Amino acid sequence: MKKLTIIFIAALLCCGCGKAPQQTAKDIKIGLSIPTQREERWVRDVQQLRKEAAALGVELLVKVSENDTARQLAQCEELLQQNISVLIVGPHDAAAAAEIVEQAVQKGVKVISYDRLILNADVDLYVSFDNVKVGEIQARYLTRLAPSGKYVVLSGAPTDNNAKLFRLGALNILRPLVNEGRIKIVMDRAIPDWNPAQATRLMEKALADNSGDIQAVLAPNDATAGGVIQALAMYKLAGTVPVSGQDSEAAAARRILAGTQSMTVFKDTRQLAAAAFGAAMSFAAGGEAPVNAEVSNGKINVPSLLLEPIAVDGANLHKVLVNSGYLKHEDVYRN
Ligand code: BGC
Repeated sequence: MKKLTIIFIAALLCCGCGKAPQQTAKDIKIGLSIPTQREERWVRDVQQLRKEAAALGVELLVKVSENDTARQLAQCEELLQQNISVLIVGPHDAAAAAEIVEQAVQKGVKVISYDRLILNADVDLYVSFDNVKVGEIQARYLTRLAPSGKYVVLSGAPTDNNAKLFRLGALNILRPLVNEGRIKIVMDRAIPDWNPAQATRLMEKALADNSGDIQAVLAPNDATAGGVIQALAMYKLAGTVPVSGQDSEAAAARRILAGTQSMTVFKDTRQLAAAAFGAAMSFAAGGEAPVNAEVSNGKINVPSLLLEPIAVDGANLHKVLVNSGYLKHEDVYRN
């Protein structure tokens, strides 16, 4: 996002045309509210956002809501008291977070919906990935390995708009095969808070109800894939039943190399964080942010920047995840 930094610096310099600049990077404060640090990816998001801020000497105020709606609202209220120019929010609860946006609007603070869309609110920008495509990539991969048979379809937290989009994408691929009678979905369940232990419990139930006869499992992310694989291992089926994932966590990369997880989806959180931070800086300088889409959140069409997800399996894992520096060699190849 070098381009955005340049736009920002140009905007700052422009304030200097004729009169003294009113705001330097050091005067700017950005608020960041992140839903969780449980999945490795959110840790990386925060790391990268801190790096971006440090590079420009901008103060980034970070709050983590630990999957708690009320806590996120209280933390954002706190951030809004601290003279921030922009608030970047990864909402825990897409609908409840509308309240955060209302408060920001009252204070004249712009809101960037980060990775997850905030519904029914005047969000200024949504920065994420093409999340329908994520679900399509997962399901397409599974249907190549298991073109017919019994499928378990798990989806993420019902409070997370992304979970709906991933499932929508997956069903775009699975539904025609269901209609043709090739695939039968024997379980279709959401996992509150994306809880891996719940994924294990649901998978155990699916295996028990079907006497272990399952041909593929759509796990919505790597953490829940880990949970599913634990249940498969109890039935000595880990490595024989295809399981999808998402996030490119180091543990998932190791499972892919060990053959127990079939694939993951790579969403480069470094790019996401850089894009969101660049946009925040541009907003702080009174500018605009680059967009490539519009996504309805039920109230408005939110100007959006959607990045591309990439399918990763054993064939391209090293190149995409290790050579790019996303995962460390020792974390991937450790036993
Ligand atoms: C994110 C995924 C993540 C999940 C659980 C989703 O909104 O897009 O990358 O695995 O939340 O945190």
